[in-house]
Amino acid sequence: MKGAYTNPRFFLAMTVMLAMAAALVQAQGTRVGFYARTCPRAESIVRSAVQSHFRSNPNIAPGLLRMHFHDCFVQGCDASILIDGPNTEKTAPPNRLLRGYEVIDDAKTQLEAACPGVVSCADILTLAARDSVFLTRGINWAVPTGRRDGRVSLASDTTILPGFRESIDSQKQKFAAFGLNTQDLVALVGGHTIGTSACQLFSYRLYNFTNGGPDPTINPAFVPQLQALCPQNGDGSRRIDLDTGSGNRFDTSFFANLRNGRGILESDQKLWTDPSTRTFVQRFLGEKGSRPLNFNVEFASYYDAKTQLEAAGPGVVSCADILTLATRDSVFLKRGINWANLPGFKESIGSQKQKFAAFGLNIQDLVALVDYFTNGGPDPAINPAFVPQLEALCPQNGDGTRRIDLDTGSGNRFDTSFFVNLRNGREIEYNKKLWM
Ligand code: HEM
Repeated sequence: MKGAYTNPRFFLAMTVMLAMAAALVQAQGTRVGFYARTCPRAESIVRSAVQSHFRSNPNIAPGLLRMHFHDCFVQGCDASILIDGPNTEKTAPPNRLLRGYEVIDDAKTQLEAACPGVVSCADILTLAARDSVFLTRGINWAVPTGRRDGRVSLASDTTILPGFRESIDSQKQKFAAFGLNTQDLVALVGGHTIGTSACQLFSYRLYNFTNGGPDPTINPAFVPQLQALCPQNGDGSRRIDLDTGSGNRFDTSFFANLRNGRGILESDQKLWTDPSTRTFVQRFLGEKGSRPLNFNVEFASYYDAKTQLEAAGPGVVSCADILTLATRDSVFLKRGINWANLPGFKESIGSQKQKFAAFGLNIQDLVALVDYFTNGGPDPAINPAFVPQLEALCPQNGDGTRRIDLDTGSGNRFDTSFFVNLRNGREIEYNKKLWM
């Protein structure tokens, strides 16, 4: 054991463990002021980046709010929407018109200069969405931080996002899958109080919708105005306000427009035509006879609840994540989190070698790290008695999203049993390889 102290791999393993412990702290869940000590200016840096882009282009506020919604709805608020590459979420049809990526890049660059490797992109995007609401004169609220960035980003996962032709039943179902009820649905779609839609996404409602005429749920007096803005066979990329007359302001006039048959998207107007959602539109409008609800307050609280989804299982990690966490953490330990540097699963050996070399790891290290996946048997570093238990929890070709404790037997408690498990070969990550 003495020799181990002079072994560079020992130090590497120690540092991996420290990084893992730091990651575990994060996995305990989010909280307001997570960066108060590690990066005190984190929130002000994000806000000033959003503000400065907003000054030159106010459209980035709705752009960022929508980007955040699309990020959170697909595998939680983990910034997976930002990941570039073929068939990532970014490339999927519902995300093609998203805007505001440059704001996140800008904030990230400034944060890396101020406190390298500390602030996750998932938090930057969440803070930027909150700041966008505030800048458009909506409510300000305290955002719990400490989210972790995801590594998985698949275009095919985005089918979960609600579509603009979707029935209310189906919209409700999609929100219910996140524990959100009808009131939450209406409050959150109220995010359409700011921003625009491209003509191509709703002009079918203006011409030949039923029997050659426009959608009968559109106020007939509004139809010519919309037709002038989006002429048949005109420029489908032209954008018009989702909340006519108040597209730059975070207020309740979006709901008043729905009541007046002046909703732009088919899915929005349905919030009024369907009695189960209409009740909440009326309450947000404070209509006589209804129990009033404050839109801004409800939006903030539900929005906040939604962004907490990823913190739902403190101390646990999905089976699929196991394979990616340690790689991320070893990147973290050397230079700070930079997901762009992670080797891709289709990456050439030459390129993989280069990326590992950047962290002082040679070909032997690469092979040691990779053989976990290729030697046909379980990782020899895992206690053999522990293997069947893990295999039962994560069967081969089983449900990769199933979640298991990182600290077997004490996953809900922040204590030292994680290290005891390491000593006993009962860890689920492959950092033990580095001891060998
Ligand atoms: C049933 C649920 C929803 C549907 C079907 C839906 C659909 C759409 C569509 C089709 C657009 C126009 C996109 C474009 O032309 O670029 C849009 C824009 C927008 N959506 Fe939603 N959305 C939904 C829920 C939400 C939620 C929950 C939020 C945020 C809390 C949100 C925020 C926005 C914003 C801010 C815009 C304007 C984007 C911009 O101006 O760039 N949406 N949405």
